[in-house]
Amino acid sequence: MGTNFVKLIRGNCLDGLKRMSDASIDLVVTSPPYNINLKSRNNYTTNYFDNIPESTYRENIKAVLAELSRITKDRGSVWINMKSRWMNSSQETVSATQGSLEPPTWILEYTRGSLHLKNLVIWNYDINSDTQNNKFHPRYEFLFFFVKDPKEYNFNIDRIRIPNKTGDKRNNPLGANPSDVWYIPLVKGNSKERSLHPAQFPETMVERIIASCSNEGDVVLDPFFGSGTTLKVAIANKRNAIGFEIEPNYVQNARERLAAVIKSNDLTCNLIIEES
Ligand SMILES: C[S@@+](CC[C@H](N)C(=O)[O-])C[C@H]1O[C@@H](n2cnc3c(N)ncnc32)[C@H](O)[C@@H]1O
Repeated sequence: MGTNFVKLIRGNCLDGLKRMSDASIDLVVTSPPYNINLKSRNNYTTNYFDNIPESTYRENIKAVLAELSRITKDRGSVWINMKSRWMNSSQETVSATQGSLEPPTWILEYTRGSLHLKNLVIWNYDINSDTQNNKFHPRYEFLFFFVKDPKEYNFNIDRIRIPNKTGDKRNNPLGANPSDVWYIPLVKGNSKERSLHPAQFPETMVERIIASCSNEGDVVLDPFFGSGTTLKVAIANKRNAIGFEIEPNYVQNARERLAAVIKSNDLTCNLIIEES
């Protein structure tokens, strides 16, 4: 295998995605902004507003999904992480005490006919900031696993099997299918992999997706890369990677993380920085 690349593009992903060629990406792994006014909850400067009108937010997601569908190869897949929010009757994000729970299944309105949902994986984790005892503590998010072609797509279960729970002789000797409920702890403040981003993907989760849905030499895209975890796992596993991020601090942080992984793993990988 020759030299790989990882390209970090600073700017609005929608502008950049529009310039990408049809069928040029093997796998997309991403988590769009949540529109929960995240900026007011931490001190990170941001170049985007996480409290825009819900209709504008959904139009943005719709436009991104249309581009992702166009640029994904026929055998490729698109993984989107989203979570439920609490909303009031005017469709504004509010606190859990004020609103009703709105799961993100509305995105299916925008994928019908272009992307096919194969799994709605439940990512179950260990903690949550919502600790009120007037309801059950919310401890999951969704991973939408879409494919371009519902019959023919890259998927290798044998790379991601987990140990069998019993010694039953009917068990697959290679291990069990991990199912569509994944328990993976959140990246916490004291985690070894923690960077400055408040919503970082756990590396083990991205590893499972990249191992099952792509091959060495493929191109993996994250249009909202944040900490750059998707890109890091991609290049550590000999894939190429392209990502967009609007916030310069995060681009700089990801650049340092990626340079470090290239060095420590002795990867033959070109690190490219561009403006969108
Ligand atoms: C939920 S976070 C993604 C976190 C990421 N999965 C990780 O592992 O760190 C969403 C990111 O999208 C970025 N963002 C928001 N709007 C954007 C846009 N239009 N284009 C590119 N990036 C954007 C935000 O700055 C934020 O870092």
